[in-house]
Amino acid sequence: MKLPPEKAEWFKDAKFGMFIHWGLYSILEGTYNGHTMPDTTFPQGNSWYAEWIKPRLEVPDDYYNGLINEFNPVNYDPDSWVREAKNAGMKYLVITAKHHDGFALWDSEVSDFDVINTPYGKDLLSPLVEACKKYGLKYGFYYSHWQDWEDPDGAMPFWYPWRPDEDFEKYWQRKSLPQVRELIEKFDPDLLWFDTWDWKTHITPERRDELIRLVRSLSDKCLINGRICYENPGDNIDFLEMHDNSYPKEMLSKPWQTPATMQNSWAFHGKDFNWKPATRMLRYLVNNTSMGGNYLLNVGPKADGTIPAPAIRRLREMGAWLEVNGEAVFGTSPAGLQMPEGVYATLKETQEGNSLYIFLTSPMASVTVPAALAGDCEVLETGQPLEMSVVEGETVISLPENLFKDDSIVVLKCRS
Ligand code: GLC
Repeated sequence: MKLPPEKAEWFKDAKFGMFIHWGLYSILEGTYNGHTMPDTTFPQGNSWYAEWIKPRLEVPDDYYNGLINEFNPVNYDPDSWVREAKNAGMKYLVITAKHHDGFALWDSEVSDFDVINTPYGKDLLSPLVEACKKYGLKYGFYYSHWQDWEDPDGAMPFWYPWRPDEDFEKYWQRKSLPQVRELIEKFDPDLLWFDTWDWKTHITPERRDELIRLVRSLSDKCLINGRICYENPGDNIDFLEMHDNSYPKEMLSKPWQTPATMQNSWAFHGKDFNWKPATRMLRYLVNNTSMGGNYLLNVGPKADGTIPAPAIRRLREMGAWLEVNGEAVFGTSPAGLQMPEGVYATLKETQEGNSLYIFLTSPMASVTVPAALAGDCEVLETGQPLEMSVVEGETVISLPENLFKDDSIVVLKCRS
């Protein structure tokens, strides 16, 4: 049931990926009937997550599911999406093929609640897959295998009555497993992104294993994430998935990633102006890289298919930084050094010698590294040489003030 670990090598090397939350909820942009999320006049309304609007703002089934008659992303241009991802330095892409609302972005054979029955009427995934292949990105699908708010037997949020297990089993056999099969047979993904978290779930170890068996029987490359059963992922998954926007402070035993938002919401939310600065997101990226993990950064396209301008600007800023500093991220491994708060380190071993990269996220007068790792040292972006002195087996690298011109992360490269 296990994939050989080398199948996950590309994932470990990738470091940076694009997450895309897109579906019927994108039409509502976090607002329904004059109420905007978060809205505490609803018992469960206190969330920014716009893809959760249906249960949280109590949107009636008929109204929400009727959005299928409005979804018409005439400006959808997957080539430009993938180009933005590629230019940002991202190496893979994961899109919500079906989120909790149950709506499928492809022509599903087992459900009519899919893109074919919208005014747009065309599969959205194949052209995206083609674009990923064209630009050399790996691709995967988020698939909500547990929650499904459209299917009469799918799981509902915890504040609804618990769906009896025998009912859930009907959904599982009728929709969940068959749709996963379709996704693999039609699109041959590099990974599947399943979603449970720490609520009580219908995904028992038996169902978890049944799903893993299905994926393995159809693909010898498709990676599976740990949220297939967050509390009990077992040993046959390929990488661990952190909680939303959470950054571990230590190394983990398996490959891993953090799914992360640019705003508070995953899906596009027209009134969520809480955009994170690009430098902060780069910090999360290097934090994870220095600990052997990936950063899966989300964009929430609008219902018409365009990626919001603040997201584009941030992707380009991150890409610009990676354009000059990417060698410190890609192809590296964690240096495993004890560093002061806000300082991160990676290592690259080549035949010509080893490079130690040090990421400085705020001004400081000096940084200390083991002498064996620092024969000489310069600023990666400019080649500015740095003065060093050896004190008791450790090298103290002096950091002149002119290194810290703005709030961007300064990368040092030391050769040994
Ligand atoms: C959570 C949310 C979901 C989002 C996901 C991304 O599980 O339910 O809306 O897609 O996290 O990490």
